[in-house]
Amino acid sequence: MNNENIKIPNHVGIILDGNGRWAKARGLKRTAGHLAGYENLLKLSKYVLTRGTKYLSVFAFSTENFNRPQEEVDYLMDLFIKGFNRDRGYFNKENIKVVFSGRRDRLSDKVLAAMDQMMEETKDNTLGTLNICLNYGGRAEIIDAVNKIINSNEKNITEETFKKYLYNDLPDIDFMIRTSGEVRISNFMLWQLSYAELYFPECYFPDFNEIEYDKALEEYTSRNRRFGGLNK
Ligand code: IPE
Ligand code: IPE
Ligand code: MG
Repeated sequence: MNNENIKIPNHVGIILDGNGRWAKARGLKRTAGHLAGYENLLKLSKYVLTRGTKYLSVFAFSTENFNRPQEEVDYLMDLFIKGFNRDRGYFNKENIKVVFSGRRDRLSDKVLAAMDQMMEETKDNTLGTLNICLNYGGRAEIIDAVNKIINSNEKNITEETFKKYLYNDLPDIDFMIRTSGEVRISNFMLWQLSYAELYFPECYFPDFNEIEYDKALEEYTSRNRRFGGLNK
């Protein structure tokens, strides 16, 4: 397809899945897959936002992922601490603003400090926003919003006022990609996904590179979004 005819979604969501299977296929430990996935996220987020998308939300760690073996949870938390502390400079160089969605409970002070410093130091960047969903659950986000509303003076809740109580002020997701061939949502951004186009490539996240992303954009371009209306 001619590059000029490619449609660029304003908000892309990616469920980063298949790190463990990527490692297993290479005879490596699951943790090696997480490291490869993290390094891929750095490259891919730059590519997605440079192509014109303004918001990229990625599912990095679900509230349910705390049910994994302690060793794997510890590895991931350590990766977040080391990665975020190392890569603030990278995101600044690439002009990417980084925000986080999720609950702060259950995260250690070190993880929270690395997240807070990342947000603080990248807050003025303008290329686009990378929203990292960490200790995140879609239902938890909605419940947390409801509790904030109960404690506010808000009377007449509309979709627009409700939205203000979600973790971050983000537009609806236009295009949701889940790598690794699993065809489910797994509690990712339930509110924001209402009218998203969904795409499920077979490849594992560490292999989801620029070529794979271009294929995904071609698929998105071919979709006919109707939002309940009639065909144009
Ligand atoms: C996604 O990869 C990363 C996280 C959930 C943290 P997985 O770890 O789920 O990899 P698979 O699905 O077991 O291959
Ligand atoms: C979803 O992947 C969560 C993240 C990618 C962070 P999982 O691998 O945890 O989801 P299930 O268990 O296959 O549904
Ligand atoms: Mg998985």
